[in-house]
Amino acid sequence: MSETPFNLSSESRSRIDALIGRYPTKASAIMPCIWVIMDELGYVPEEGVTLLHEKLGVSRARVHEVLSFYTMFRTEPQAKHTLQVCHNISCHIMGARPLIAHMEKRLGIRLGERTPDGMFQLEGVECLGACGMGPCLQLGRHLYEHLTPEKVDGILDSLKRGVVPRADTDRLVAEGGQ
Ligand code: FES
Repeated sequence: MSETPFNLSSESRSRIDALIGRYPTKASAIMPCIWVIMDELGYVPEEGVTLLHEKLGVSRARVHEVLSFYTMFRTEPQAKHTLQVCHNISCHIMGARPLIAHMEKRLGIRLGERTPDGMFQLEGVECLGACGMGPCLQLGRHLYEHLTPEKVDGILDSLKRGVVPRADTDRLVAEGGQ
């Protein structure tokens, strides 16, 4: 097997090996293995694609397919906090648009942009699977629900202080992650 040049820790590599052993076919472990790299680096660089190609026996194109299909996966370095606000129909009806406008004003950026200090990135995403709790936003695996401008302000203030506020729902990976 060829050497992968990027700096993924031995712990993460061990997690990937352990995950692969849990599935009937190596290729089936692709999403949890992507999460392992995301957990450590915040995105999957091209070297991560190479690693998954080698470990899982899938083509590089297949890894890219999965990475590009899901909005929570990244292939570029990210802001410290990427705020993904749902703007699909249920959240739209519950006020996602004015909420996004409030966040744009508060952060001084437009949807799809990053603050100059690299602290926040604001993204509009399709359904987060929490339609009854809209409007909602996702930060990593944390889901914040029934958002109001006041609740969003509290979340942003907390993040600026370096504290990730308690989520309404935490989404864990199949392996039982953090
Ligand atoms: S429409 Fe927003 S979570 Fe489904």
